[in-house]
Amino acid sequence: MEYENCTKCVDKKLIKETNEILSKYSKQKDNLIAILNDIQEKYGYIPKQSQLEISNYLSIPMAEIYGVITFYSRFTTNPKGKYNISVCLGTACFVKGSQSILERAKERLKIEAGKTTDDGLFSIDEVRCVGACGLAPVFMVNDEVYGNATVKELDKVIDEIMAKEGKN
Ligand code: FES
Repeated sequence: MEYENCTKCVDKKLIKETNEILSKYSKQKDNLIAILNDIQEKYGYIPKQSQLEISNYLSIPMAEIYGVITFYSRFTTNPKGKYNISVCLGTACFVKGSQSILERAKERLKIEAGKTTDDGLFSIDEVRCVGACGLAPVFMVNDEVYGNATVKELDKVIDEIMAKEGKN
């Protein structure tokens, strides 16, 4: 069986990697946020299996871990799409109309913010200030920043990605 297609192998890899991260920390409850940060950074989300490993390691109930994950907007339990569209709703961007860019992204991709399309191609995030207020309104596709953005530009970017991915 191909490695990428072997769900159990992927789980094993994930468990191993999560435990490598855990081994850097003592079994103190206070380490939960730092551990979640590391996992989020590594995978772009907090996989369920990682939550289980953390729960065992720190002796914290799953519900408590889930509560912390949902409390902080930087943590997510959904894998991001290949193209993650982050729309800035910080004040500078908001007053310049970024909400309409977000609404357009949701309309085009038929998903809510924080979700990923079924084909795994796109996800949408709401973010608060990405430090480019002078370029407001701003959206990002992965690490690429689009400043002085318009709904029309978002449409163009989505069209280009779809064409590149053979979705048109
Ligand atoms: S408010 Fe959008 S970049 Fe600062």
